[in-house]
Amino acid sequence: MSAPSVGEAPIRTAVVGLGWAARSIWLPRLLRNPAFTVTAAVDPDERGRAAVAEAEGADRLPVLAAVHDLDPAEVDLAVVAVPNHLHCAVATELLAKGIPVFLEKPVCLTSEEAERLAAAERSGGAVLLAGSAARYRADVRGLYRIAARLGHIRHVELAWVRARGVPDRGGWFTQRSLAGGGALVDLGWHLFDIAVPLLGTAAFRHAIGTVSADFITQRSSGAAWRGDDDGPALPGATDVEDTARGFLVTDDGRSVVLHASWASHEALDTTRVTIDGSGGSATLRCTFGFSPNRLEKSTLTRTVDGTTRPVAVPTEPIGTEYDRQLDLLPAQLRDPAGRGRVIEEVRRTIGAIERVYASARIPREVRVSAPV
Ligand SMILES: NC(=O)c1ccc[n+]([C@@H]2O[C@H](COP(=O)([O-])OP(=O)(O)OC[C@H]3O[C@@H](n4cnc5c(N)ncnc54)[C@H](O)[C@@H]3O)[C@@H](O)[C@H]2O)c1
Repeated sequence: MSAPSVGEAPIRTAVVGLGWAARSIWLPRLLRNPAFTVTAAVDPDERGRAAVAEAEGADRLPVLAAVHDLDPAEVDLAVVAVPNHLHCAVATELLAKGIPVFLEKPVCLTSEEAERLAAAERSGGAVLLAGSAARYRADVRGLYRIAARLGHIRHVELAWVRARGVPDRGGWFTQRSLAGGGALVDLGWHLFDIAVPLLGTAAFRHAIGTVSADFITQRSSGAAWRGDDDGPALPGATDVEDTARGFLVTDDGRSVVLHASWASHEALDTTRVTIDGSGGSATLRCTFGFSPNRLEKSTLTRTVDGTTRPVAVPTEPIGTEYDRQLDLLPAQLRDPAGRGRVIEEVRRTIGAIERVYASARIPREVRVSAPV
């Protein structure tokens, strides 16, 4: 955990959106990290505001109903964790006022929203940073180190397949107009994010995929660790996929297979990343995120000339990657070259997601199975 450098005051931080992510991930970490001081919390919903007022260490925070009420002179950073369809509107308002924003994933839902964010970043002169912490996991960093010894990377397979873990089933996460999509924008965003250091800046020349929704209507498919109110098992209450598969090819001739599932036939929630290079291959098996239904430990292997060897990787306490990302935020905020960096990556990610959806959507959009 990083203390502010000598002469640097803690970063005055407003937390915007006081739901599960803010209360479980960001507020507790911000409150215990000396590089930050939380100075305001914002949520239009009385339930979010009340929950924060009851949280340990946050009971005396000024709690506001709208970002409009934040004074740019009093805020160095806004951590934004609102429902997906509001990411762009809330972040552009803050950026245009000159308030730097750390925006949860998915940063935006369309390429057009990416351009609005880029314009607000330019006009307000404030930096946009993005939340997607998987790149900061120790096991993923171990995989990157091995990848550097695999020669030319030819192919990457990225899979995050939960046994059960549909967030807020029946709520905004499972309505396309509010979430922008299902497992692809939610878990798939993290998978695209970890691929960036492997693929560099090459654009995607081709992107196709499929989506399905065979599990989402089952009550048991919910993400129990979130403690959401479990909605009814009505097919009509959801119109997003629980599973998405994609096949993408970069301009420089590398291929990517992506598989994101909120629920499946599996017993455990598993993330699997395989890299095939000209000089060998490597596979990481672990569990991303907060699900308690996880692999006991992370395993990393390297295969060369027919021999597969284990590579030691630490298994960290759940959520360590979020602490690590927070520790790096002060330097990113102060980096004058940081503006525009996130949006460059975001353009490629959202462009690929749009194309996978465009290729996958059949007339009935997503085929939803009957409730079980
Ligand atoms: N990085 C991760 O691992 C991770 C994990 C969970 C969620 N998330 C992301 O965090 C975001 C929030 O997810 P969640 O699970 O907390 O959702 P949630 O529904 O639990 O919370 C969203 C909160 O935002 C509030 N809100 C709505 N409009 C607002 C506005 N205009 N201004 C301020 N607050 C507003 C809602 O009242 C609610 O309290 C989503 O984009 C999600 O994808 C990221």
